[in-house]
Amino acid sequence: MKGIFITLEGGEGAGKTTQVPFIKAYFEKKSLEVLTLREPGGTPCCEQIRTVLKEKRDDDVLCDEAELLLMYASRAQLTKTVIKPALAAGKVVVCDRYDLSTLAYQGAGRGIKESTIKNVRQAAIGNFAPDLTLLFDLDVKLGMARAGKRGAMDRIESSGDAFFEKVRAGFLRFAKEDPEHIKVLDASLRPDEISAKIKSILDEFYV
Ligand code: TMP
Repeated sequence: MKGIFITLEGGEGAGKTTQVPFIKAYFEKKSLEVLTLREPGGTPCCEQIRTVLKEKRDDDVLCDEAELLLMYASRAQLTKTVIKPALAAGKVVVCDRYDLSTLAYQGAGRGIKESTIKNVRQAAIGNFAPDLTLLFDLDVKLGMARAGKRGAMDRIESSGDAFFEKVRAGFLRFAKEDPEHIKVLDASLRPDEISAKIKSILDEFYV
């Protein structure tokens, strides 16, 4: 039995996390077991990597290459030890961020070449990919204002609006290149309106 792997992607403050319970309930109603995860993170080791990635420090500023490799270190661990076994057991895995975030943040945002990212990805997870990605698209200023309300900005959130404009454009470009697997949602809608859109996408995918 093979499960279903769904990822939620988007910039800061786009409301992905708010929709996780809705997606979980959708599949549980179909009597499927659902595992929800986040990236970077999801295992004790991966949560430690997340702390390193998010921590702002002036004495040892993380370089872009280290950031990329840490993202994939976390992804390799989570994929091999948690995601793949859950899918093999027939579960639905819902992951708040996954590989598209790397292409958008480290690629489009930081400027690391796509070919370099794909080489590292190959070493970390091979050709493994989600069945479906929901991309929450939101105006950058709106997203940053929402993210700012959650408290102090972490290292990546502090990258500035110009960085996040590049991230947003990257996400939309990747969605255009793979419309079958990546579905774009207007994240400026109300949460209940977004849930309704997600329902219609999931209904089409899993009748
Ligand atoms: P979040 O879970 O609160 O969104 O935090 C994760 C942060 O890490 C967010 O700023 C996006 C960033 N990130 C990347 O830069 N690349 C990645 O591959 C992933 C998964 C996350």
